[in-house]
Amino acid sequence: MKTGDSPRTGTVPILASISGVFISFEGLDGCGKTTQAALLAEAAAAAGREVVPVREPGGTSPGERVRAILLDPALEIEPWAEALLYAAARAQLVAEVIRPALERGATVIADRYVDSSLAYQGCARGLGVDEVLAVNRVATRGLLPDRTVLLVLGAGEAAGRRGEPDRIEAEGSEFHTRVADGFADAARRFPERIAVVDASGTRDQVAERVRAAVGL
Ligand code: TMP
Repeated sequence: MKTGDSPRTGTVPILASISGVFISFEGLDGCGKTTQAALLAEAAAAAGREVVPVREPGGTSPGERVRAILLDPALEIEPWAEALLYAAARAQLVAEVIRPALERGATVIADRYVDSSLAYQGCARGLGVDEVLAVNRVATRGLLPDRTVLLVLGAGEAAGRRGEPDRIEAEGSEFHTRVADGFADAARRFPERIAVVDASGTRDQVAERVRAAVGL
C-alpha cells in the first residue's frame, strides 16, 4: 500500500502516483468486473499511463493452457489440484508480466487475482483461507495489489448475467453463495486494500464508483 488512508472512502488517489500501480478486480462470475476492468484501463490510458491489462487464470502462454484445463467442464479436478493450478498460472503471470510491468512504472489492471483463490478454493471448496493464502504467498513471492475493487452484486443477479457456464460457473447456487461469503471475508481481512463497490445500476454508474475507489 502506498498510503494508510481508508480505501472505502474513495479518497486515496493511488493512480496519482507516478510509480507502478497494481489494481485487481474481484467478484462473482457475472458481476461485471471484466467490463469495469476494461473501462478503468481506458480511463487510465487516457490519463497518460502505460496500462497492462491481465486476466486470470491465463495471461501467459503456459497460463492460458492451465486455464483451458481449469475451465474444462469435462474434467474432474481435485480441490487442492485446482488450487495449485490457479497458483501455478498466477506464478507465471507475476514473474513474466506483472512484476516487470510494475518495475517499469506501468499500471497493471488484473481481472481476478489472489482473492479469487481465497473465495473459490479457500472458502467455497473448503480448503481453508489461511492455507490457500500461504500457497499464494509462495507463488506470487508476496505480491499483493495496491488496491482491489470488489464488485458486489446479489448472487441471483450475477447468475442471470452469465453466459454458457465453465467448469466453475457450473457449480450450484450454494457454491456461489460460499464464494460471496469468501469475498466478504477477504474484504474484512484486508480492509486497507479492498474497496467494496456496489455493482448494481448502469455500466457508467458503476464505472464512476470504481474510479472514485481508485482515485482516478
Ligand atoms: P473468469 O470467468 O473471471 O475468467 O474466471 C474463470 C473462473 O475461474 C471463474 O469461475 C472463477 C474461477 N477462479 C477460481 O476459482 N480461482 C481463482 O483463483 C481464479 C483466478 C478464478
